[in-house]
Amino acid sequence: MSICILAIESSCDDTSAAVIVDGNVLSNITSSQQMHREYGGVVPEVASRAHNVSIVPVVLSALEEAGVDRSDLTAVACTRGPGLMGSLMVGFTFAKAFARGLEIPLIEVHHLQAHILAHFIDPPRPRFPFLCLTVSGGHTQLVVVRDYQDMELIGQTLDDAAGEAFDKTGKMLGLPYPAGPEMDKIASTGKVIFDFPEPQIPGLDFSFSGLKTAVLYFLKKELDKDPDFIKDNLRDLCASIQDRIVTILLNKLEKAVAETGITEVAIAGGVSANKGLRSGLRYLAENRGWQTYIPSLQYCTDNAGMIAMTAHHKYLAGDISPFDRQPDPRLPWNPEASG
Ligand code: KG4
Ligand code: ZN
Repeated sequence: MSICILAIESSCDDTSAAVIVDGNVLSNITSSQQMHREYGGVVPEVASRAHNVSIVPVVLSALEEAGVDRSDLTAVACTRGPGLMGSLMVGFTFAKAFARGLEIPLIEVHHLQAHILAHFIDPPRPRFPFLCLTVSGGHTQLVVVRDYQDMELIGQTLDDAAGEAFDKTGKMLGLPYPAGPEMDKIASTGKVIFDFPEPQIPGLDFSFSGLKTAVLYFLKKELDKDPDFIKDNLRDLCASIQDRIVTILLNKLEKAVAETGITEVAIAGGVSANKGLRSGLRYLAENRGWQTYIPSLQYCTDNAGMIAMTAHHKYLAGDISPFDRQPDPRLPWNPEASG
């Protein structure tokens, strides 16, 4: 009998549902909330209301595209955290009710572990053990992945996430939210001529708040002299800021490879869509002999396909959740520790 799982992701501003059958993702439907652009960031209550509108149609489309009837389902999976509480509540409550109604198991999934397992949706798939740099709007982490369920966090940001560094500095340049993709596009037309500092953080942790402050004061100083400074230098500013964010990430990745001796290296999360990061990683692969893995664009940003893949392996390991579980906006790396 096949293992057929419906998976739901609603941790931030994307409502997504996917169906996985025997480890093959057959559908991955995502409704992205565009209304946050006008506010310059995700507004939690607006996000949860929009999930509430989208959840049923997105789930029905995912089942239909996969050619799966709800009576075929073995289990229902959902992101339990981390994320925005109101957003998580919509998907998690839906998943619990759907599973309960069908009298099938519920499988909770850790959003960041799912970003990593997105690498197993399509070939080439990494071999264990591998290192993963997860870079999203809310997180920046270095993880040693020994198996589907055996992951060790070896470094993380002490303040802002890499995606936040793109979004916040981009906002200073007048770019629309989220600024990351826009900065990426403009950066490819500019030159790296402004030198922003690299933080000296010991070990494998990251910090991006110093860069944010450095950009703020630099722009203030230059705008006092020339009010058109940003307009006249936008391309080079984008190229220089992006280059600094990417070097901070890649320098720590090189350090992690040196310390662990692991040369299978993957990147995951929304920022892994960045062209500068992708080409920097390819350069390192060629020059250091690493095997590198970069997910396809649809599986870089938030999606239920990655939740489905994680749930498939949790189901195989017999790891199902009790129905009295609650979503957890700050779900720890080892969820067993949280109630
Ligand atoms: O993983 P994700 O979709 O959502 C979270 O879980 O946070 O990541 C969203 C983040 C945003 O900060 C966005 O600006 C950034 O990923 N991002 C990018 C690019 N595409 C998305 N940052 C830089 N370059 C890109 N091409
Ligand atoms: Zn994410």
